[in-house]
Amino acid sequence: MMNSKVVPKYAIVTLVLLAFACSFASAYDPSPLQDFCVAIDNPASAVFVNGKFCKDPKLVTADDFFRSVNIPGNTTNKVGSNVTAVTVEQLPGLNTLGISLARIDFAPRGLNPPHTHPRATEFLIVIEGTLHVGFVTSNADGNRLFTKVLNKGDVFVFPIGLIHFQLNVGNTKAVAFAGLSSQNPGVITIANAVFGSNPPINQDVLTKAFQVDKNLVNYLQQQF
Ligand SMILES: *[C@@H]1O[C@H](CO)[C@@H](O)[C@H](O)[C@H]1NC(C)=O
Ligand SMILES: *[C@@H]1O[C@H](CO)[C@@H](O)[C@H](O)[C@H]1NC(C)=O
Repeated sequence: MMNSKVVPKYAIVTLVLLAFACSFASAYDPSPLQDFCVAIDNPASAVFVNGKFCKDPKLVTADDFFRSVNIPGNTTNKVGSNVTAVTVEQLPGLNTLGISLARIDFAPRGLNPPHTHPRATEFLIVIEGTLHVGFVTSNADGNRLFTKVLNKGDVFVFPIGLIHFQLNVGNTKAVAFAGLSSQNPGVITIANAVFGSNPPINQDVLTKAFQVDKNLVNYLQQQF
């Protein structure tokens, strides 16, 4: 009985926080103002919406919302993993809907190397195999590492913008699917961006940043 006056206050605080969360979300991908806005590259007459034109709704078909990801990516590469993205580029029906997907295949011991998605939180589900996954918090939070070993059916969340990775710790192949909270999440692979940029970052920058000598920086740059 005494709590009856207190509870609504918490409810209001929760609602306010939710409202903030929603307004942050819409700051990344636009909220749809219609059922859909299927992306089209060369419209005869169309409206420009956040980088993608909308296809005339009368011409939209089921295929605009369809894509198959039943073929594993080729994992015969240096890292032993392959990401098959399903963003608005591959699936035009995702335009303005604030969501996308990726299939990630891993060879035994394969790695999806440390990377970040500048525009999306990621929800990962393991379909096959065993993955060691983790993310690192921001500087102000002390760069804490959160890790977990995931088996078939397990899910893990990588918060927007944070550096994360997935390593197949099993001796068999592994498969995971990721849901991402943007039609165009973007990806920055840390090692490639830092040591393989075009043109290369000045070695004085990298030697000081990583506290190593020029030979090691040279060696790392040659790997990308
Ligand atoms: C990923 O797999 C696709 C399909 O097999 C292939 O075309 C592509 O080159 C692969 N990417 C990498 C980085 O190995
Ligand atoms: C996978 O990629 C490797 C290296 O590029 C290539 O030799 C091999 O033929 C590819 N496998 C398939 C099934 O495409």
